[in-house]
Amino acid sequence: MILRKKLFFVSLTAIMMLIVLTSTLSAIPAFAQDASSFISEKNALKIPPLMKDENPQTSAMDITLRAGKGKTTFFGAKNATQTLGYNGPYLGPAIKVNRGQTLHARVINELDENTTLHWHGMKVEGQMDGGPHYTFAPGETWEVSFPVDQPAATLWFHPHPHGRTGKQVYMGLAGILIVEDDISRNLDLPKDYGKNDIPLVIQDKRFSRNGELVYLTHMMDTMHGMMGDVPIVNGTYNPYLEVEREMIRFRLVNGSNARVFDLFFEDNRTFWQIASDGGLLSRPVQTRSLTLAPGERAEILVDFSSSQYGDRAILRSPEFEILACLVNNNEGAEQGSIPRDLTQIEPVDTSKAVRNRTFVLSGMGPMVSINKRQFDLDRIDELVKLNDTEIWEIRNEMFQGGPMGGNMMRRMGRMGGRGMPMARAMAHPFHIHGVQFRVIERDGSAPPVSERGWKDTVLVYPYETVRVLVQFQKKGKFVYHCHILEHDDMGMMGSFVVE
Ligand code: C2O
Ligand code: CU
Ligand code: CU
Repeated sequence: MILRKKLFFVSLTAIMMLIVLTSTLSAIPAFAQDASSFISEKNALKIPPLMKDENPQTSAMDITLRAGKGKTTFFGAKNATQTLGYNGPYLGPAIKVNRGQTLHARVINELDENTTLHWHGMKVEGQMDGGPHYTFAPGETWEVSFPVDQPAATLWFHPHPHGRTGKQVYMGLAGILIVEDDISRNLDLPKDYGKNDIPLVIQDKRFSRNGELVYLTHMMDTMHGMMGDVPIVNGTYNPYLEVEREMIRFRLVNGSNARVFDLFFEDNRTFWQIASDGGLLSRPVQTRSLTLAPGERAEILVDFSSSQYGDRAILRSPEFEILACLVNNNEGAEQGSIPRDLTQIEPVDTSKAVRNRTFVLSGMGPMVSINKRQFDLDRIDELVKLNDTEIWEIRNEMFQGGPMGGNMMRRMGRMGGRGMPMARAMAHPFHIHGVQFRVIERDGSAPPVSERGWKDTVLVYPYETVRVLVQFQKKGKFVYHCHILEHDDMGMMGSFVVE
């Protein structure tokens, strides 16, 4: 694998040099030639199909998801590997629902172990949320029906059986869930799914020499979570995407088990973040890079409207090339405009909070805990009153006994892949089920503009304290946890009941 990658980089460099030469030494456009050799090294990005409403005569969105086993060839026919997926061998279809619509889903367990289906980011009652308390056995069907009542957003779904979440997600059980509303529909944003509105489920995997997906084989995997050495996007290895000359919207989902991705374009171009986990930001945030922790989502706009035929833009992280965009010869339908305003987001009003709770994240590997406790399915850690607004303070203390070089660790952690990967590896993405919250502050300072919208997962760096404002509008039993799935499986999770 490594060798192939190296060879590829070598040939890529050769191709690039060729382009420079041909474009400077001759007037003959050589793009078509280069584009095809560029593409032949790569695989067309797979786009998860949009689910069809099984009962279009009713206003509800009726769907059936089958969690089952399959075989996937990431690298070529010889290297098929056992995977899991919804309605297919790997990952799942995309679900698109409108605000106000009822989502009616039948989820069939065709695995040979218990599973659940969790709607990550959905404001839904505990019983419908599909957390670890709601497992169903092989052969069983879990049927849920709930109204979707929250702003347009890019959400996702994945299994959540305690102790098995990491493995099931890693093997391929995850999918994207798009909520639309009047605001998102009326904005001048790219909306043509699969064409200029592109979902990107970003993951990292590790494969054995014969192309089999491997899980938890290194000692470090249980310490910091399962990180791979091969990036996979929508289940595609080494993907390219052909884009037209227009504005492109990407819906990014960090669907990896443990890796925090610092995303940027190789040419360092600017792009605009328009949404965070729970929906649109109040206005686009212009940036050159974006950090996405496991579980987090973002929507971005990338302007290809003034690109030339044959131009490439490589989305990458310090460690990986994630996606190569290749501009084709078509004029896109969308003009290259960025809306000035997106949506109304009320200011964070902490005076509404009736209660403070503190969550201390600590430990490493099998010792990870929240408030010194590990998850217990039968214990309720927090009781919350329905519709109460609270301040949740999340502290990443790493080890008991106080910070040793805490400030340095925190700074390095924020720098991520460009700083000290070790410090980054001890950041915990804290996620709360059944809600969307607002970040009040990070270590006493206002959060960056990209975190001033709705969030359901927030990365807490080593020795950092993050305070969030959250209203509990749905009743039932839920969990909060670290979204590094191996930490979650090892007990860095607690449960709360809203009533
Ligand atoms: Cu992405 Cu507890 O979930
Ligand atoms: Cu969730
Ligand atoms: Cu963690």
